Amino acid sequence: LRKVTTRRLAEMKQRGEKISMLTAYDYSMASLIDQAGMDVILVGDSASNVMAGNITTLPMTLDQMIYHGVSVVKAVKRALVVVDMPFGSYQGNSKEAVASAIRIMKETGADCVKMEGGEEIRESIERILSAGIPVMGHLGLTPQSINKFGTYTVRAKEEAEAQKLIKDAHLLEEIGCFSIVLEKIPAKLAERVSTELSIPTIGIGAGNGTDGQVLVMHDMLGINKGFSPRFLRRYADLHTVITEAVQAYINDVKTRDFPNEKEQY
Ligand code: KIV
Ligand code: NA
Repeated sequence: LRKVTTRRLAEMKQRGEKISMLTAYDYSMASLIDQAGMDVILVGDSASNVMAGNITTLPMTLDQMIYHGVSVVKAVKRALVVVDMPFGSYQGNSKEAVASAIRIMKETGADCVKMEGGEEIRESIERILSAGIPVMGHLGLTPQSINKFGTYTVRAKEEAEAQKLIKDAHLLEEIGCFSIVLEKIPAKLAERVSTELSIPTIGIGAGNGTDGQVLVMHDMLGINKGFSPRFLRRYADLHTVITEAVQAYINDVKTRDFPNEKEQY
């Protein structure tokens, strides 16, 4: 069981082998996902939505990300574990950014961090990289900037924004990021960036031309019923599975069917 490394992801791109990535936030699910053979597990700040019930990812704190990171790292034997740096932990200044990244690495034992943005956060990324911490970039729809965009619709459809994204992607590669997430941008643009860069790109809502794909676990397992963007493929209907199981249990309790004679001491 060879642990997946950032170098291995680069080799996968060279070989043309697609990279699989999925989020996890807790020990039990991370264990299942790792044993199923996932290449990369992301402790995403989407924990803010699916775990904490917030509308945006902004409220997530560094302590909360570390809590999720610790649980996931304990479970994972093979996958590369990436922890999202939460909003406010790196945008202020590069000194604070490196202190936040060091806390994540020290306290969780994760393999690397992910940060949203390009040129604007260049100094912070460089400082973290020079501390020896691998950084995954994240461009396109960057949910921590939702208050600037005002919408979760497709990004970089306009030429100017597309040009900036291409520039930022090259910048991230040049300064030393090992990979970049491309979220919700036109498939053609994502394919172009993926071809131009030598580091692997991981897409979400970015078409089939990226070097890998990432989804939020609760979305792809069908736990969330309310969220149905075009890019989301549901691989299970856990909403129904769980609801029916819970209702069956309630019914068995009410009807005195549970526990039966074999289920007691
Ligand atoms: O937090 C998250 O789940 C993410 C992925 C959607 C890339 O950043
Ligand atoms: Na995120």
